[in-house]
Amino acid sequence: MPSITQALSQIGKATLFATEFAQDLYLYAKYCGISPFQSGKKKLYYKMIIETHAIEKGLSLANPRMLFGRQKITTVMRYVRRYGINSNDMPVQMAIGALQTYLAAHRAAGITDPMLDDIETFLIDRRTGSGGLRHFPAGLLQQDISGGLLLARRFSCRMFAQKPVDRETLERIVALAQTAPSQCNRQATKVTFYSDRKLIAELLSLQAGASGFSENVTSLLVVSYDLAAWGGAQQRNQGYVDASLFAMNFMLAAYAVGVATCPLNLAVRHGVERRIKRAGSIPDDQRLVMMIALGWPASDGLKAAASPRRPVSEILTVVEGV
Ligand SMILES: Cc1cc2nc3c(=O)[nH]c(=O)nc-3n(C[C@H](O)[C@H](O)[C@H](O)COP(=O)(O)O)c2cc1C
Repeated sequence: MPSITQALSQIGKATLFATEFAQDLYLYAKYCGISPFQSGKKKLYYKMIIETHAIEKGLSLANPRMLFGRQKITTVMRYVRRYGINSNDMPVQMAIGALQTYLAAHRAAGITDPMLDDIETFLIDRRTGSGGLRHFPAGLLQQDISGGLLLARRFSCRMFAQKPVDRETLERIVALAQTAPSQCNRQATKVTFYSDRKLIAELLSLQAGASGFSENVTSLLVVSYDLAAWGGAQQRNQGYVDASLFAMNFMLAAYAVGVATCPLNLAVRHGVERRIKRAGSIPDDQRLVMMIALGWPASDGLKAAASPRRPVSEILTVVEGV
């Protein structure tokens, strides 16, 4: 039987859990991208990026389906018109670049369609935008890597050669990724690797963000963390922080040894998380953070979504002393 003090302490801890989660809920509900309390312009800003990125991603596949994403194209043009087509803001420039690339690819393939004419009209008098594709005619460049451009050169790859990553290379990447910092050096991040094509197909069908290139993925990683390393309401999201730092380090380490990667979200419900764990032999006491598709990059015509970045001024706030 716990003493009164212990019981009160446990009630206190449980209450803290409830109040902390309730505050997560409050903040999220108030400021998320579907909240009526959030600024319409800000919501449009992110919606343009998200929809346009789907177009860039489609273009970056090895063999894009012609006239793909009709609905998204129309939506992007509508959003841009609503936001202001003359704006220099990053999402507008990204949309213009992606539509230019889309149009050029279809015209080069001799395709005609009223939607392409609409895009052409939409793009009249526009300078070259920032979205679209990046091309890598020489694959991953070793001199760029050793020249310190590793961070700037990494990209999300959706075109892989059909040879899985071997055990030795994988262990090398994991060992390098382990240089990632972690809170109190807990190292609670775990990675589970798969190269069985049937299992990869099953896991990716549960993930659902790799359609269009999932059949191309020969090696897959699930990044998770051990819940046992964390305690108390305040620490409820810290496993995600450490695992994300590890995942980033993993992707850079992979690039450094010539292996390309694509992070894959695991924004899934608990039911799907449980199915992924069961299919992927991951223990119940781990939380899933993300998947990473990895492999040797395709040797011919390697390309990737441009994924332009926002200006530093939109990201960085410097607070001067008073
Ligand atoms: C946590 C996370 C989840 C992602 N999920 C997906 C995904 O499900 N499918 C996909 O094709 N790309 C996914 N991406 C890749 C992003 O689209 C990509 O990182 C972004 O456009 C920046 O491009 P870059 O990685 O080439 O610099 C994800 C990226 C992150 C960080």
